[in-house]
Amino acid sequence: MKKTVLLIAILAYYLLPNMIFAQENETPEWARETREQKAKRMAWWTHDRFGMFIHWGLYSLPSRHEWVQHYERMTAAEYSRYFENFNPDLYTPREWAKIAKAAGMKYVVVGTKHHEGFCMFDSKYTDFKITNTSYSKDIIRELVDAFRAEGLRIGFYYSLIDWHHPDFPYDWMHPECPHLEGGTMMQIDTAATEKANETRNIKKYQQYIKNQLTELMTNYGQIDELFLDFSYYEKGHKQWDSEGLLKLVRKYQPQIIVDDRMDLNNTTWGWDFTTPEQTMPDKWETRKNPKIGLEERVPWETCQTFSGSWGYHREETSWKSNRQMISMLIEVVSKGGNLLLNVGPTSRGLIDDRAHASLKSMAEWMAVNSRSIYGCTEAPEELSRTANTILTYNTQTKTLYIHILDWPTFKSLRLKNYSGKIQYAQLLNDGSEIQFKEQDNDVILSLPLAKPNTEIPVIEVFLK
Ligand code: GLC
Repeated sequence: MKKTVLLIAILAYYLLPNMIFAQENETPEWARETREQKAKRMAWWTHDRFGMFIHWGLYSLPSRHEWVQHYERMTAAEYSRYFENFNPDLYTPREWAKIAKAAGMKYVVVGTKHHEGFCMFDSKYTDFKITNTSYSKDIIRELVDAFRAEGLRIGFYYSLIDWHHPDFPYDWMHPECPHLEGGTMMQIDTAATEKANETRNIKKYQQYIKNQLTELMTNYGQIDELFLDFSYYEKGHKQWDSEGLLKLVRKYQPQIIVDDRMDLNNTTWGWDFTTPEQTMPDKWETRKNPKIGLEERVPWETCQTFSGSWGYHREETSWKSNRQMISMLIEVVSKGGNLLLNVGPTSRGLIDDRAHASLKSMAEWMAVNSRSIYGCTEAPEELSRTANTILTYNTQTKTLYIHILDWPTFKSLRLKNYSGKIQYAQLLNDGSEIQFKEQDNDVILSLPLAKPNTEIPVIEVFLK
């Protein structure tokens, strides 16, 4: 009897929270899909690994960070000078698309609206848009056409935050939120803020997002990725009506892949991939699956800049080297992720020289080494990693890619416990054979003395 009670107690202890939680997170009818269906929907993305992010808007004129309006607490009236002067006369989306394609990027995620609220597309629901500037054309349409013509897939970034819309409630981030006299960014005048928010109707703003997302999801053909940005303490799924948004997005673009920033993270259905921003995860990203209560590996895409800010920043000096960019891409793939690499074009419509130079060096590397990126992922655990190398692995072809970060001082590389595993090996950049011999449990690769002429040489190893 005692035993039965104990057993019931133990079972209840472990199962009940999961049952309650599972109920809370009941997947809505329209969002149901099996793991296999999801994997299939995301197959192109997991294969392609590398995309271009584009941050371009009015903030490219001040060239002091895309959050300049917030940092400098500018009023809408002050900010309007950028609206009046935006005229990207040198914008050639075909050129941008060629640069991206050459670098090996397979998709683009372009900002349609950033926190400033300015729309780079022709929206019926606002006057604060590109077609009302002297440029007058729909930048997004031109970009979508050009990138598609080069064979790249299309993604849209859309800011949920909007510092221009009259119904977006003030909070500390808002440039015009009433602040305490001499207070820091976080020190707002709560009473004045509440008062000012009385005339701001979040429901109307929700409808505005829905209207604009409907435009974006219906006027530009197939959209492959959607990057909604972002939620924080004051604004989350309740304020955005995230469930409603996602339902609408999936209605028009059922195949679309959606990021994790609309605050539906304790569901299994409200996001497709995680978005570590300007950090390098130390291993494959995981998330707790609320249905089973366990950590699971998840699809992830890190977004990265060349220099720190997302929008064009004239005076930033913290640029990463070309080599860092290449090894970043390799490292991301070695941990099963995607890299979304950002460019912040100038207000006249050119990709910054430094970004262009870096992309050219990625292009040179990818031209001969991309086989170690596309369709690749983390290598199986039993394949050991020699110091100063990064491994990626193609599961379909059973091919291992050894990226050698530091070319050995003398002609050889030892692969521990690889004996009997290798069929054939070659340098990837020129397809020249790499001879090897077995020694005890190990394999010794015999490398050329001089480092091959490619930034990070790769050995392609066909396994048995
Ligand atoms: C952040 C920033 C933003 C940038 C984005 C890219 O949310 O607010 O400026 O667009 O990250 O991931």
